[in-house]
Amino acid sequence: MEHRTHTCGQLTSKENDLKVVLNGWVNSIRLHGQIIFIDLRDRYGKTQLVFDSKTFLGDFEIVKKLSLEDVLAIEGIVSLRAQSAFNKNIITGQIEILVSNILLVNEAKPLPFVISNRNSAEENLRLKYRYLELRTEELQNNLIIRHKAYQAVRSYLSNNDFLEIETPVLMKSTPEGARDYLVPSRIHEGRFYALPQSPQLYKQILMIAGFDRYFQIVKCFRDEDLRSDRQPEFTQIDIEMSFVDEYHVMDYMEKLTKHVFKTVKNIELDTPFEKLTWSKAMDSYGSDKPDLRFELKLTDFKEYALKSSFKTFFEADAIKTVIVNNADLFTRKKIDNLTDIAKTCGAKGLAWFKVGNNELSGGISKFFDEDLSLEMIETLNLSENDILFIVADSHKVACTALGAIRIEIAKHLNLIDVGVFKPVWITDFPMFDHDDMDQLTPMHHPFTAPKIDNINDLNLDQKNILSRAYDLTINGNEVAGGSIRNYDPKIQSKIFELLKMNKDEIDSKFGFFIEALKYGTPPHGGIAFGFDRLVMLLSGSDNIRDVIAFPKTTSANSLMDNSPSNVSNLQLEELNIKINES
Ligand code: AMO
Repeated sequence: MEHRTHTCGQLTSKENDLKVVLNGWVNSIRLHGQIIFIDLRDRYGKTQLVFDSKTFLGDFEIVKKLSLEDVLAIEGIVSLRAQSAFNKNIITGQIEILVSNILLVNEAKPLPFVISNRNSAEENLRLKYRYLELRTEELQNNLIIRHKAYQAVRSYLSNNDFLEIETPVLMKSTPEGARDYLVPSRIHEGRFYALPQSPQLYKQILMIAGFDRYFQIVKCFRDEDLRSDRQPEFTQIDIEMSFVDEYHVMDYMEKLTKHVFKTVKNIELDTPFEKLTWSKAMDSYGSDKPDLRFELKLTDFKEYALKSSFKTFFEADAIKTVIVNNADLFTRKKIDNLTDIAKTCGAKGLAWFKVGNNELSGGISKFFDEDLSLEMIETLNLSENDILFIVADSHKVACTALGAIRIEIAKHLNLIDVGVFKPVWITDFPMFDHDDMDQLTPMHHPFTAPKIDNINDLNLDQKNILSRAYDLTINGNEVAGGSIRNYDPKIQSKIFELLKMNKDEIDSKFGFFIEALKYGTPPHGGIAFGFDRLVMLLSGSDNIRDVIAFPKTTSANSLMDNSPSNVSNLQLEELNIKINES
């Protein structure tokens, strides 16, 4: 048979009567006695084939035995369907092919799951047979969107003077807050490379080297607990710019984001994007990645709580509430579910009461006397059928617990408009967090510049120093994060000291970088987008694995090729590695 003349997503009434050759997979089979209909599928679409035993020139027995996902080559004539049989949903819906000849190019075994319905199988089974799952329309579309996003990113950045430069994959470890994936060196016994958690130091050094604007679409590797939006290896659009402040970086990145949404999905994002300081975001939305597609802001409740007789409230640092309409839609069971969510965020419980006709009912309502109830109804603008959810705890726990509850309530009440995109910049992060031992840790990473007037400010009240970091969040997802960097080696060294690194440690880990900063470093800053997360938003997926061709499970396994796997003793010996028998 000749080579294919058309794809399965191409033929229309214009090609009526044309002799064609198509290749593809058997997508569906309908038997009607001596006539058999098959939908042939390839990446471009589906075409209906008609095998009529009266006109078919080949062996009809082969056609009868065809199975789903067999690979075929067919020859036939394009024929206009009866108007009543038009399928308006597909490009090829006006025609069918009257097949005269067939070549069964390759048979498919019985399938482990029905690939036209992904949800018919457990995810682990689908991941084992990933090549079959990748044949589904949904995943093919996601990877097409991903491809378009790569192209849109490259064209925007290249047109704006950003140079695409590769950095090493085998490198010295750079802390980004997760564990490194290590690669043992055979030649240098006992030494290890790390896979990049991000190319942070390389991109800063590229600024020192004078490249001015850099980007790279780059794989990053982090050994951390995985979630639905995290993978151990993921892709960043990594960017760095010289002679800029945060507003330049944010402006370019808004334009990049706008360009990507427009080119890939024809979605118009309004610029400039909204900006919220970190403390406002935490206070109002209980999250540093707030979903602004719905309101439900957190309200301070301490003033009223302290006037109540509910003693549990009195000790708490912060008491906050979310006020919601439709109290009738919150059953006991739903409230228990919200309480569990609050507890997973560290809260001891979730208090609540409902509002009736000028009175409170249920939950902790009995602790508010009549005057206080009326005062709250008036000043908090409460209406009949409102319900208030209250958390009293440290400021952080009260906010994050109610932030998580806010999201669940929005889902429960169907308040989220899925077609809407609400980008928001989060700025003015604290420079430092602290661990259980009260030791300072960097909130972003240690190369982020603090918002200070001079280096001496770093000696004062470190917990209240803000940083020049910014995150871009869209619909409750952290899509990108970056900062203006320390370009003064003295400030960079001081920050390492505050993070309790001793001189030897600073020298061995970052000596080369501090040295580089001393040879004429331009002020610079940058950002990295989580590319997979961006594609999740563009494709409407809520699972990062659905936008990656060969993803890992939440326990970092690749089920298709079974990695990680054992290696031979010889390989281990060469690397001078011994596995402890447990
Ligand atoms: P950060 O650690 O914030 O910054 O990472 C940038 C963005 O990468 C995405 N991301 C992930 N996506 C999937 N799986 C993961 N495990 C994962 N971890 C992070 C997020 C995040 O916003 N070097 C700095 C950037 C800079 O300062 O320029 C960095 O990597 O969307």
